[in-house]
Amino acid sequence: MTLAHAIGASLLGLGLLGLPLSALAQQTDPDTGLVMAEGWQTVRNNCTACHSANLVTQNSGSRNHWEKLIRWMQDTQGLWQFQPETEATILDYLAKHYGPKEGARRPPLPRHLMPDNPYSTIAESG
Ligand code: HEC
Repeated sequence: MTLAHAIGASLLGLGLLGLPLSALAQQTDPDTGLVMAEGWQTVRNNCTACHSANLVTQNSGSRNHWEKLIRWMQDTQGLWQFQPETEATILDYLAKHYGPKEGARRPPLPRHLMPDNPYSTIAESG
């Protein structure tokens, strides 16, 4: 084993052992279901007064999407104006934890990584 391998292996070991379980699964607030991360209380305080937090947690999108939603609620639903720092905290939180959904499927494998198709009538090799 080289020195680099030894260091790498011990770092890996430390990383796995030292990782608290809470870092693996995101903690959510039992009352609202909001991910408990930086800014979550600000979101709870400002975004659950009129409707359930479910509306928030079931929605997702870019920062721009969330900003438009907030503007819409401010223009038409009586949502109050935020201090710029408060709004930034809310938007950062929402974009980070309720951001655009990634495609649920992985991209298809390239042809050369696929197994041979045993039913193919076209000779694939040889
Ligand atoms: C002053 C009241 C009020 C507050 C505070 C409020 N909302 Fe809303 N929000 C509404 C209303 C009213 C609706 C429409 C509810 C419905 O369709 O049943 C709504 C709908 C939504 C929706 C669903 C939009 C859709 O496309 O269906 C989301 C997401 C949302 N709000 C997020 C938030 C977030 C994030 C905050 C905090 C920044 C927030 N709301 C704060 C009044 C409010």
